Amino acid sequence: MSTLHPNLAAGNCSRFLRACLRQPVDRTPVWFLRQAGRYMPEYRAVRSRHSLLDICRTPELAAEVTITAAERLGVDAAIIFADLLLPLTPMGLDFEFVADEGPRIHAPIRSASQAHALRTDRTGDLTYVARAIEKVAAHFALKGTGSSSPAGQDVMKGMGFSPSIGPASSKGALAPQGNQDQLGIIGFCGAPFTLASYMIEGGSSRNYIETKKMMYGDSFAWPILMQKLVTVLAEYAAQQVAAGADVIQVFDSWVGALSVSDYRQYALAPTTDLVARIRALGVPVIYFGVDTASLLPAMSETGADILGLDWRTPLDQAWRALNHSVAVQGNLDPIALFAPPEILHARVAEVLAAAAGRPGHIFNLGHGIVPNTPVDAVLAVVQQIKNSK
Ligand code: CP3
Repeated sequence: MSTLHPNLAAGNCSRFLRACLRQPVDRTPVWFLRQAGRYMPEYRAVRSRHSLLDICRTPELAAEVTITAAERLGVDAAIIFADLLLPLTPMGLDFEFVADEGPRIHAPIRSASQAHALRTDRTGDLTYVARAIEKVAAHFALKGTGSSSPAGQDVMKGMGFSPSIGPASSKGALAPQGNQDQLGIIGFCGAPFTLASYMIEGGSSRNYIETKKMMYGDSFAWPILMQKLVTVLAEYAAQQVAAGADVIQVFDSWVGALSVSDYRQYALAPTTDLVARIRALGVPVIYFGVDTASLLPAMSETGADILGLDWRTPLDQAWRALNHSVAVQGNLDPIALFAPPEILHARVAEVLAAAAGRPGHIFNLGHGIVPNTPVDAVLAVVQQIKNSK
């Protein structure tokens, strides 16, 4: 008999969390990568008065943006408003977001001595994210549709959750299905490879030349960098879980730049370490990357509970390649949200058909919502999912 996630046992019956654990659900849960972003007028209004980093670093603002997006869309999970790059600051790397360019890291890492100099003792500076999660958890708890409170998390840990969670077998004990309308709260962090790529390239990249040069060429710098990132990211994730995050999503957005053998040699071990440390906190891990069709089986070796799928591989094919041994999240092409309503409807139906009602599917996009996406199209997708019981 499989072990129930203590959050479920303690009464969190959210369909989002149930699907993460491959439990049966009353309908497919849905949320959207980058659901709080520039496509949404409510976000743009806040953004017109505050910089991106100010929003991230002010718990009241980050919580407001998180809650507004989740409630406006009527989705099943709220992802905390933050950014992948926030941990760079306490590690000692300054960066800024430059309009029309993206992130710019002022002194990118190019040597082992620079990697050595990165600090792992100031992760406490990131607790503004945890404070924002507490506010989100308190908001949804007050509304009675919320997720586990920080107190609930203590209950979870007190129950000695072990990372042996798995799906309920058809004969296994199931939590009462109850009201599944509670929202899941998703915390997140970057994966070691993707964060390292920003630290080394100094920003977004097309070919990851500097990253791969360090990976292949410096047998000192790369392992130090990976190890320092895992230390910081695990502590950062722990702060978020203690604050009320039900699940942690690990973004390895640019891992598709790696061949399978390079992934195995340079990224799999540190990512596995990070996933294990997060799962030991008592929460499931969603592991997401883009352009990952050939990497999926190796990515599942990290022990992640849910794999995020990009839109290039049909969901049924990707899930089969994983032997259905994990839950999956995805995988509508975000640009399908610009299609005429009947085409969008058909594409959403295709994703649902590929999942075939199998326990462990969370509907999402294959990557983030882009600016100028019509909000009505996003709302139509949510309605379609809700109608498709
Ligand atoms: O609801 C949400 O999901 C928003 C929260 C969120 C942000 N960044 C805020 C943000 C999340 C989950 C992220 C993660 C993130 N940040 C990733 C991984 C996710 C992915 O899409 O694969 C990455 C690669 C970053 C780094 C980053 N942040 C870049 C490359 C950029 C600039 C590119 C762009 O889209 O403009 C950002 C800026 C950023 N982070 C924005 C938002 C809403 C948009 C810019 C703004 O509001 O000024």
